[in-house]
Amino acid sequence: MYSTILPGIRRISDEMVALRRQIHAHPELGFEEFNTSQLIIDKLQAWGYQVTTGIGGTGVVASLHGGRGPVIGLRADMDALPIQEETGLSWASRIPGKMHACGHDGHTAILLAAACELAQSRRFHGTLHLFFQPAEEGHGGSGAKRMLDDGLFQRFPCDAIFALHNMPGLALGKLGFRAGPFMASTDTITILIHGTGGHGAMPQHAVDPVVVAASLVMALQSIVSRNVSPLDMAVVTVGAVLAGDAANVIPATAEMRLTVRALLPATRQLLHQRIRLLAEQHAAGFGARAEVRLQHGYPVLVNDDVITRQLSLLAQEWLGADNVIDELAPLTGSEDFAYWLEQVPGCYFIIGNGDGEGGCMVHNPGYDFNDEALPLAASFWVRLVEYWLGPVEGEAQT
Ligand code: NI
Repeated sequence: MYSTILPGIRRISDEMVALRRQIHAHPELGFEEFNTSQLIIDKLQAWGYQVTTGIGGTGVVASLHGGRGPVIGLRADMDALPIQEETGLSWASRIPGKMHACGHDGHTAILLAAACELAQSRRFHGTLHLFFQPAEEGHGGSGAKRMLDDGLFQRFPCDAIFALHNMPGLALGKLGFRAGPFMASTDTITILIHGTGGHGAMPQHAVDPVVVAASLVMALQSIVSRNVSPLDMAVVTVGAVLAGDAANVIPATAEMRLTVRALLPATRQLLHQRIRLLAEQHAAGFGARAEVRLQHGYPVLVNDDVITRQLSLLAQEWLGADNVIDELAPLTGSEDFAYWLEQVPGCYFIIGNGDGEGGCMVHNPGYDFNDEALPLAASFWVRLVEYWLGPVEGEAQT
């Protein structure tokens, strides 16, 4: 795999690893990536990029123009998580309670390494936008959504967009793709059941919302098992039921909190409709009233079929078919790049973070981004740009 690393990337890889560790040691949570974005801005300006700041809060867009041609966008996320790091590494977080436990430090450094090489080589015709996004983890809201609300694609229209994420458990040097729906939508639904409070000894004078909630928890299980196709993925979890304080008091209300996930936009709609109908009519059947509040989270992440197949083929030609997983299984996690893919076709793909023993999953206090993945992934960004914005078809493969 090492022969596939571009010479220009190899030359700067030590510097980029040091940069990654610097970001890792100074993690910043969503919309607070002030120092991280300043570091990115300084580098990109020095390399000759046209840099726009303050998009979606701390978001940065860096543009490089290479004459007439298509426009593509590459995205990296910048934010850390509220986790206390336990790696014991010399570059471990110096900020208590904050940690780059999802490898966004790596994603940022990968894109910077590619940016450095592309600014020098400039083997492309068209326009390249690099998007450095805040708050992928959703603390304080979605950074991708905030950038959209700031007119991202009106100000920087793109023909295609791309993003990557590292994956512990997938061998180093491997890339993974999936055309179509790849990551789940995630929504939160709150059901407030209004009954009539009363004395625990005189239930005949009350409408007990606890009984309604208990019955509704079971009824909700029928949605995935009876309304969703057995061939489709969906999750309805009642994560919290809150009601009452005392053994001898029937409370007036009960609250239920649900997380709801789906892999198809149509299934997502079905879940919303069925939960609302079931809650309202179930409660009515007991003489109570259900108030259903839907809080939309990230949508289903849907990769463009044609672009994803092209990208997978490019990876196979470059790395060899053995190092590319063409049909990854869908993931039940979610990702706010999904908002962008609703507006612009593109592909979100996976790079291996290593499958060695002791490697931790993302969001674990023992996790660290694998620096060996950096030059490979940066080289792939460069290959992708030269392919998509290649002056002559096939030239990128030479
Ligand atoms: Ni992540």
